[in-house]
Amino acid sequence: LGGWTECGVLDCRTCFDEALAKVKRIQFPAGFQWGAATAAFQIEGAADADGKSASIWDRFVAQPGRIRDGSHAKVACDHYRRYREDLDLMAALGMGAYRFSVSWPRVIRAPTRRENPAGLDFYDRLVDGLLERGITPFLTLYHWDLPWFEQEQGGWGSRETVWRFADYAEVVARRLGDRVQHWVTVNEPLTVVTAGYLSGDHAPGRRNLMLALRVVHHLLLAHGAALQRVRDRVPAAQIGPALNLFPVVARTRADLRLAERIDRLVNRLFVDPILTGRYPAFLQRILSLFGWTLRPGDLELIAQPIDFIGVNHYARIIIERGVLPWLSVRLARSPDPHASHTDMDWEIFPRGLLDTLTWLRERYGNPPVFVTENGAAFHDRVEADGRVRDASRREFLEAYLFMLNRAIAGGSDVRGYFVWSLLDNFEWALGLSKRFGLIHVDYESQKRTLKASADWYASVCRTGGFAL
Ligand code: NOJ
Repeated sequence: LGGWTECGVLDCRTCFDEALAKVKRIQFPAGFQWGAATAAFQIEGAADADGKSASIWDRFVAQPGRIRDGSHAKVACDHYRRYREDLDLMAALGMGAYRFSVSWPRVIRAPTRRENPAGLDFYDRLVDGLLERGITPFLTLYHWDLPWFEQEQGGWGSRETVWRFADYAEVVARRLGDRVQHWVTVNEPLTVVTAGYLSGDHAPGRRNLMLALRVVHHLLLAHGAALQRVRDRVPAAQIGPALNLFPVVARTRADLRLAERIDRLVNRLFVDPILTGRYPAFLQRILSLFGWTLRPGDLELIAQPIDFIGVNHYARIIIERGVLPWLSVRLARSPDPHASHTDMDWEIFPRGLLDTLTWLRERYGNPPVFVTENGAAFHDRVEADGRVRDASRREFLEAYLFMLNRAIAGGSDVRGYFVWSLLDNFEWALGLSKRFGLIHVDYESQKRTLKASADWYASVCRTGGFAL
């Protein structure tokens, strides 16, 4: 396992390619779940249909200059209206599972906080449609579209939002809990904090360290509170958070220690409280430095037993100091001159998935894992003959799945895998310009076209593996 150091060079690509060349077929265990993932705001459109209220993202997108390509998500993939077609595509691809999110402002009305029956009906139809096609639903409760009304009441900076989230979770559990067994509480809380409250690139576009620390704690509480409500209503539920985890490395020797610190901070920030009931010691010190303390019972709520950890993984993070040491850490491109990057400028580094899963296994006693997101954006286009030849996506998925397979061989308890994403969709602050889908979407005509990678992934779903 790991290293590929037959020639003595860590992560040597030639050794990796040679090792890969000897492998003829990759096979996953029986019962492994194969699927794809999406999120409500990124695909649904229908921004104000059937009594839906506004979310922080609806408001954010409307502010000039927030979305790099100037696009909006009012229509996105129009999935709210075309979901049947999308369900048929999933079934045609032989997917066994589908991870989607429920839009909180679609199912709870502002300002009364009453249920919106029409919004709930949509998810009801979606879940039934999945089950009719033999596809297991994985439902995410929070994928970043906080109701604007809750933001006006303080949003994630306010402890009250935690209980509002729990109430909403209960509404969803009551309505769908008889048919949905797999629940993801919060998606990538780290991104919510870093992009939403530090860099300000995501909604609600704040830059405030003190506030960000409060948001960390409230998102953790929200995870625990929602988990409890879902468990009460759905005793057989399998519940966990989806956390983005990744190795952090320095671009140059000078930044080694900085990278180590950031690695510990970002990777343990959410996992430690959830799995061990403690904040990492250094973080606890920072929290008390700001004179901010936890209330009794908080950590118990956060650390209730979970059934799995969802891991979202894309790339390792390479950092270097910018002009102002310490204050300006930036994400760099790979120091490896042969490295490739995706259209997001993220390094393709499949070993990072193995390292992340091995770290989870060794440090936290091998918790069950679903890879709740993995995938890549490339500059895909429909060619004159109507095909989308996204060979790079297939190569990306093959290499990451190879590493995932090695992690399982090494003992990691990984139970399923979701490609990000089923469809090209609205990539947050980067708008419609980044294409992550297995399925190409023409946003003018809303025509869906299966990419070559989708045909390949269909055979993975059907056979539980692939030939190299
Ligand atoms: C993480 C997020 O959960 C998802 O919404 C986003 O589109 C992908 N990563 C790609 O950036």
